[in-house]
Amino acid sequence: MNVLVTGSLGQVGSELALELKRRYGNNNVVASDIRSDETSPLVHDGPFYTLDCRDGTALADIVRKHNVKTIYHLAALLSAVAEARPQDAWDININGLHTVLEVARENGCSVFTPSSIAAFGPTAPKDYTPQNTIQQPTSMYGVTKVSGELLCNYYHKKYGVDTRGVRYPGIISNVTLPGGGTTDYAVEIYYEAVRKKHYTCFLKADTYLDMVYMPDAIKAAVDIMEADPARLRHRNAFNITAMSFSPEDQAAYIRKHIPEFEISYNVDPVRQALANSWPNSLEDYAARVEWGWDPQFDLDAMTADMLNVLSARGV
Ligand code: SER
Repeated sequence: MNVLVTGSLGQVGSELALELKRRYGNNNVVASDIRSDETSPLVHDGPFYTLDCRDGTALADIVRKHNVKTIYHLAALLSAVAEARPQDAWDININGLHTVLEVARENGCSVFTPSSIAAFGPTAPKDYTPQNTIQQPTSMYGVTKVSGELLCNYYHKKYGVDTRGVRYPGIISNVTLPGGGTTDYAVEIYYEAVRKKHYTCFLKADTYLDMVYMPDAIKAAVDIMEADPARLRHRNAFNITAMSFSPEDQAAYIRKHIPEFEISYNVDPVRQALANSWPNSLEDYAARVEWGWDPQFDLDAMTADMLNVLSARGV
């Protein structure tokens, strides 16, 4: 039983594909991305394809050739890019997902697709946002995420496709940088803290958003796909969170390690509007009960680890 990862050179895919290879064997995990990157081990070591996920014929060929039974569909545009290119965002995030679901239906594959905190909009409760509540996002990214959740649930109900997913909060990693997201500041801040002891943040000091450290985000993707389906009352998509903080909170934790660290603010109105429309913090009880979501890193532990790793690497 083989696994295919789309978007495997992206922020989540690059680390998820490596973890899946460690678990299931190098040649049993097929990596793909719309571009190639000669510096990535995924391109050299084991099967790799340059693939546009909207190309159903090419996708189906790979699935059949490698007897793929699980697809981790990570190819998507993030929120700020989607706001700048809404037509592309719909095409890639929705038509890409629809193509993957069709190939999965025809070939009996299960599908993991990430949703996001952006699947909620300003009309949802801001604090402790429930698993099931009003979803009226006002960004194109959010529109594609909530539509994707509905489409996955439809394929599960109508065709029995084993679709599963989580609503990721901002993801922080010291490996692959995010590109064009609203929560990118929470990653950049650590790099700049190590490099310059100063960071200029594009969100306001008191903007609260949910976050998760990459090891927990990867574990969520693997655990939900390995979960006993009999325990799953939800499918697409489970709220998950590990911490909720603001830029000024994060700066305070960085000062525990780098006392002279300073943060200043130069607000980007587009990304601030996106952040303002999203929850401050999610309630993730269903994920904890139905498949054992139990994140290991809080802001304190993540900050210590990020600064250690980045300093040792000499970024
Ligand atoms: N991290 C994402 C973004 O900022 C939210 O899902 O776009």
